[in-house]
Amino acid sequence: MGQARIVVVGTGYVGLTTGACLAGLGHRVTCVDVDEAKVARLAAGQVDILEPGLEELVSRGLSAGRLSFVVGARRAAAVADAVFLCVPTPMGVGGAADLRAVEAVVAEIGDVLPSRCALITKSTVPVGTAGRIRDLLGRDDVPVVANPEFLREGTAVADFMSPDRIVVGSDDRSAAEWVAGLYRDLAAPNVITDAASAEMVKYAANCFLAMKLSYVNAIAELCERLGADILAVTEGMGYDRRIGRSFLKPGPGWGGSCLPKDTHALVQVADAAGFDFTLLSAAIVENIAQRDRIVAKIAGAVGGLAGARIGVLGLAFKAGTSDVRDSPALSVASMLAAHGAEVIAYDPAVGGGFPGMNVVDDPYQVAKGADGIVVLTEWDEFRKLDWTYLAELMHGEAVIDTRNLLDPQAVLDAGLSWLGLGRPRRTRASQGDLTTAGRP
Ligand code: UDX
Repeated sequence: MGQARIVVVGTGYVGLTTGACLAGLGHRVTCVDVDEAKVARLAAGQVDILEPGLEELVSRGLSAGRLSFVVGARRAAAVADAVFLCVPTPMGVGGAADLRAVEAVVAEIGDVLPSRCALITKSTVPVGTAGRIRDLLGRDDVPVVANPEFLREGTAVADFMSPDRIVVGSDDRSAAEWVAGLYRDLAAPNVITDAASAEMVKYAANCFLAMKLSYVNAIAELCERLGADILAVTEGMGYDRRIGRSFLKPGPGWGGSCLPKDTHALVQVADAAGFDFTLLSAAIVENIAQRDRIVAKIAGAVGGLAGARIGVLGLAFKAGTSDVRDSPALSVASMLAAHGAEVIAYDPAVGGGFPGMNVVDDPYQVAKGADGIVVLTEWDEFRKLDWTYLAELMHGEAVIDTRNLLDPQAVLDAGLSWLGLGRPRRTRASQGDLTTAGRP
């Protein structure tokens, strides 16, 4: 196979990363979106999302003539070797994925696709979607292929270029092999399978990660109650190669655009198949409980939320992104406000506009008159803050570090107290004598 002519429908973070990276691999890529203004910006090399390396890749693709952006998919689809569907599949009624955007694209381009053009789902779609698309399409000469992405926000380009694996599934084996060949320059194991299995891999992997995090958050809670330290516990667990070291950091809960959506969708799909997936439902319940526990912990540390002034550091769902979709940080901050606290928040990548809180553009401003400071997103820059200066600005002395991000000693040396997650509380009185955190 030489360079393939590829159409990518949808220029969200999955589509744009996929398109720019495929162009980077030497293919000729046309990215399509319905948003004319966005297409114009992208055609001028302007990338709206915060994704390291993406803007550079887009510029290189544009100037090499391998990447273009257009409105409307029909023309490009009529001469394509492959069409990647990267349109949103949001959570619909009852937690099931809403496939209307996918169906609309299939209706738009179905009749113009050349014979043997691969129609590929890239966004996460429910198990069985390839079959549904085949029925909608009503064509035997166009293979439908599932090729899920495993891109993390903030490292999407690196994840695309150095994947752990490439998963391609189709009931047309030769089409699946051909699609896998598009990635031949990437050194990664290929899993070539049927369409339903490829679709299932994505859910099974993301839901496993969510369960792992709920589990670790629950273990952190137990550590706190029983006087153990989650840092040592996860280090001891992580050396077990069957468990691994990653995704073992406790925090305010898992969020973002994928894990919440995918966990709900799989529970729903299981339910529809007559299987009560209590293991996964429990992970979702645990994730909500985690936010409640964190709010209670903050309340305890500042002596009640009503009328308290709380400085919040971090609103994004994780560091390295401006994304607040299903962000546990934003949801904890909103809960504090709902409980009557005055919330002043700062995030290096997130602006304001959230009800009940004042978002400022300087981290030190959150400390002014604050009864407590709460770290909710693990931005590296929070580690480097001048805690002596923050302490001078504060009214109270509580620092609640829900990501175990800070150096507790630096906080203590500033005359403040430090309360992490699943770790002994550190106060000036407890210096050198680590006492277990009291329950709020
Ligand atoms: C995730 C999957 O990792 C990716 O494979 C998939 O394609 C899309 O969904 P992303 O949503 O970018 O990627 O976030 P990820 O980095 O996986 O983090 C998910 C959530 O878990 C975040 O809220 C993060 O803060 C939390 N997390 C992660 C922890 O609390 N502790 C950890 O140790 C790791």
